[in-house]
Amino acid sequence: MKGIILAGGSGTRLRPLTQVTSKQLLPIYNKPMIYYPLETLLKAGIKDILIIVAPDHAGDFLKLLGSGKEFGCKFTYEIQDKPEGLAQAFIIGENFVGDDSVTLILGDNLYEDDFSVAIQSFQSGGRVFIKEVPDPERFGVAEFDENHKVISIEEKPKVAKSNYAVTGMYIYDKTVVAKAKSLQPSPRGELEITDLNNVYLKEGTLDVAFVEGKWLDTGTFESLHEAIVFARERELAKNKNN
Ligand code: G1P
Repeated sequence: MKGIILAGGSGTRLRPLTQVTSKQLLPIYNKPMIYYPLETLLKAGIKDILIIVAPDHAGDFLKLLGSGKEFGCKFTYEIQDKPEGLAQAFIIGENFVGDDSVTLILGDNLYEDDFSVAIQSFQSGGRVFIKEVPDPERFGVAEFDENHKVISIEEKPKVAKSNYAVTGMYIYDKTVVAKAKSLQPSPRGELEITDLNNVYLKEGTLDVAFVEGKWLDTGTFESLHEAIVFARERELAKNKNN
């Protein structure tokens, strides 16, 4: 299993915080944001990780993270020239993915859960992780039938068909590269991860797991603040127990 951390985008919603740096380098209590998704992958035993960054601050990511040796893993870097969608990660990472399965995690998503079992038990198809939220319209939203089976996923719908958001971590088999290449850009000009998930869903190979612990997408000032409060509480609790 390989890993990809996608840390592209221009973080426009967080300006002026992101005027001179990348969103994923902003501090979340005592660590840069990207450390959190990185730790999620490392905890699950992933040691070969591609980091995809926007061109503007690529050097800063390299300076911060280096070769990966310090983290006991290996980093490869690629540039996403323009924010053309999450699914583009698999086109940019085609050579890196090769014949392996891959876990994509977004550089601005924070999880409390340990995904070792979900990642190590993965065989084929696709796996997404959903979480009940009060504001599903901000996310990809899962729609269920009467047997609680997911029948569709909608990207940022005006009226959400459920309160279950598809969170920013996804596991796919090697067919993901070909599937990503088959997508057409959405009206906002992006290759949508939701479209990719719907390809797996139509094929009947998408499975859905629940996020049990806290999940935060740090795309807004409110969620950024919440993430900092959460990270601080977790760190203080850890220090108290040691
Ligand atoms: C992206 C995805 C969305 C997903 C979210 C998770 O949204 O498009 O489906 O629910 O990440 O963080 P964006 O970061 O573009 O707002």
